[in-house]
Parts: sequence; structure tokens; C-alpha cells
Amino acid sequence: MSAAADDLWRIRRMRPRDIDAVVAIERSAYDFPWSERIFRDCLRVGYRAWVVDRPGLEVAGYALASIAVGEAHLLNLCVAPVARGHGASSRLLEAVIAQASHERAGELFLEVRPSNKPARRLYARYGFQTRGRRPNYYPNRRGREDALLLSKVLPI
Ligand SMILES: CC(C)(COP(=O)(O)OP(=O)(O)OC[C@H]1O[C@@H](n2cnc3c(N)ncnc32)[C@H](O)[C@@H]1OP(=O)(O)O)[C@@H](O)C(=O)NCCC(=O)NCCS
Repeated sequence: MSAAADDLWRIRRMRPRDIDAVVAIERSAYDFPWSERIFRDCLRVGYRAWVVDRPGLEVAGYALASIAVGEAHLLNLCVAPVARGHGASSRLLEAVIAQASHERAGELFLEVRPSNKPARRLYARYGFQTRGRRPNYYPNRRGREDALLLSKVLPI
């Protein structure tokens, strides 16, 4: 993918027919992926969900967030390995931030593995700050791993 291609990402709402492609990316990206059922339930209960695509790559990544009572929580954000390094994650995160602000959420929270350097760099670039640590939050191959709790105060 060329640098100029970074401008071709399009953001749209996730639809049920995107879920097969989303689950394929999820399985390629995580040791402990969400099931298809979890994605379907997220859409059913009305969580906000987006996919990013471009000509020739129907689903390149996705993000899901819950937004309610003045707070937003980023539940999942993932870009297909073949599409990384070209700004797709930024487009997704910007969509989440814009929607959370639009729905008057004052703060956007997320969890991230301390070892996940690409994700931490992404969130740092958007001004997220570490608020705490959740012990044994994630499963990993050796047992459990802590999560860092990050948040960004949103303009409302
Ligand atoms: C995290 C993720 C969404 C980033 O997607 P992306 O579209 O490739 O994002 P970017 O190209 O903007 O890269 C993000 C940053 O990580 C850096 N990066 C990329 N690979 C890296 C690596 N192996 N080590 C350290 N930093 C790395 C990039 O240089 C960039 O930093 P910069 O903003 O200072 O330039 C993607 O790696 C992913 O889907 N990972 C698996 C799922 C995941 O971990 N999601 C986050 C859960 S909290």
C-alpha cells in the first residue's frame, strides 16, 4: 500500500453482513478472539460499531464502543494485519471520539495491554492518559495479564 493510499479509507457503520469479515480479522489478530456471537450481540444491543474499508479491501478494520450516561468505553479496535501502518486505526478512533462527543460523553475509557506498543502509541497520539491498572484483566498464554486503564476527556 502506498502512502497516498492512506487517504482512501472510508468509515461506515458495521452491519450484520460485515460480521464474517470482522470475525476473520479478529481471529487473525488476537490469541483470545471475540466470538461471532459477541459481535452479533453488540449490534443487537445497540453498541456503536464501525468498519473501515477502501476500494479493494472490503473490511480492513473495526471498532466498537458503548456510549451511555455521559461516558464512553472503547470495547474493541482492530485493523487487519495486511492493512496496518496506513492510518486505518486513526480513522476508526476519530469516528469513536466524534460519536462519543456527539452523544455528550465527557470521557472515553479503554483498556490496553501494557505490552501492546502499537496500540499504546496510537492512544498516546490522541491524548489518552493512564488512569489506573486492572489486575489480571486479560487472558494470555501464560495465564492472565494486567490491563492499563486509559481515558481521554472529551470536549462537550
Ligand atoms: C493497534 C492497531 C489497531 C494499530 O493499527 P494501525 O492502523 O497499524 O495503526 P498505526 O499505523 O497508526 O500504528 C500505530 C502506532 O504504532 C506504531 N507501531 C506499529 N508497529 C509497531 C511495533 N511493532 N512496535 C512499536 N510500535 C509500533 C506505529 O509506528 C504507530 O506509531 P506512531 O503513531 O507514533 O507513528 C493494530 O496494530 C491492531 O489491530 N492490533 C491488534 C489489535 C489490538 O491490539 N487492538 C488494540 C486493543 S486495545
